[in-house]
Amino acid sequence: MAAGDVLLEIEDLHTHFHMDDGVVHAVDGVDLRMRKGETLAIVGESGCGKSVMARSILHLVDPPGRIEGGKVTLHRPDGPVELVGAHKRLLRQVRWKDIAMVFQEPMASLSLVHTIGSQIIEAVRLHENVGKAEARKRAIEMLDRVGIPMPQRRVDAYPFELSGGMRQRAMIAMALSCRPSLLIADEPTTALDVTTQAQILELLRDLQDELGMAIMLITHDLGVAAQVADTMAVMYLGRVVEYGSAEQVLSQPRHPYAQALLRSMPRLGQARQRRLAAIRGSVPPPYARPEGCSFHPRCDHAVEGRCDVVTPRLTEVGGREVACLLYQDEPEPQRGGAPDDTPDDREES
Ligand SMILES: Nc1ncnc2c1ncn2[C@@H]1O[C@H](COP(=O)(O)OP(=O)(O)OP(=O)(O)O)[C@@H](O)[C@H]1O
Ligand SMILES: [Mg+2]
Repeated sequence: MAAGDVLLEIEDLHTHFHMDDGVVHAVDGVDLRMRKGETLAIVGESGCGKSVMARSILHLVDPPGRIEGGKVTLHRPDGPVELVGAHKRLLRQVRWKDIAMVFQEPMASLSLVHTIGSQIIEAVRLHENVGKAEARKRAIEMLDRVGIPMPQRRVDAYPFELSGGMRQRAMIAMALSCRPSLLIADEPTTALDVTTQAQILELLRDLQDELGMAIMLITHDLGVAAQVADTMAVMYLGRVVEYGSAEQVLSQPRHPYAQALLRSMPRLGQARQRRLAAIRGSVPPPYARPEGCSFHPRCDHAVEGRCDVVTPRLTEVGGREVACLLYQDEPEPQRGGAPDDTPDDREES
């Protein structure tokens, strides 16, 4: 990746929840990179740390959650800034202006007691030196841009006066009102019907082109990922286990977990009635992270005495990065046990 293209670098990020019963290692050493203007899709089973990872970027993790270590470097036009351990003032500058976030449930980010317009106006005025009238004009423009009918009137509506789809659009309008270089979208369309979902994705893509913004998209839907993502990261128990171009990861996943996950997730164009293969076993309880490779108890390729001992790190395998000992050279390669390049019997049966 050329240095000038890099937008965000996450290195060895750890976020833990200190509970009465123990410590939950929700994010347990995440490494990720994003380029300017690209879309990165993040997939993984429920509870694998996607949301906590995304929220950690802007310090939006509530106690007892705590960022324990690592680096999150944001490359702004005037130079890189480090977000882990950053002062509140810097984070306030970065939020909305450089990085904006939208969530599955718009009510989580919209205030109930303020109109949509006043919330957008406040966000704009916090970051840009514009008067109230100008900020209001921007709010109306943005509402129009996201496809809200009669924006001159809706600007004075309260969130509860809008439908779910309209609220989601309003939240996107607010997120984009300061033209951020990165939009983090955590399952932004999951709560919506299929038609509205498609419209919102299309809208995001148009705005992305127009604003040159990058999108980190957390999704459970491989169809969505295939449609919009340039790169893709598969997470398991707080770590990235495979990362590469979306095309490569989707068509030829290498990590046994990525292979099983992709078989278990719905794909675009796949007959609805087709049963999806379940991943063997279940995600272990959050306090009990297995030793070695945390996927080994569920992995058909696990090698005793190795996968339950050594923690794999992300290594380059065929143009993408995979954290699996089956592909790692030390202490002794176990190539014979490596899963197929094309494990995929998805189209059959
Ligand atoms: N407020 C919290 N207190 C304690 N543990 C939490 C809290 N929030 C998240 N966790 C734990 O952190 C881990 C990661 O959760 P996270 O919400 O990031 O998963 P996710 O990948 O986003 O799942 P989903 O696909 O369901 O949204 C889980 O084990 C979860 O139980
Ligand atoms: Mg989540």
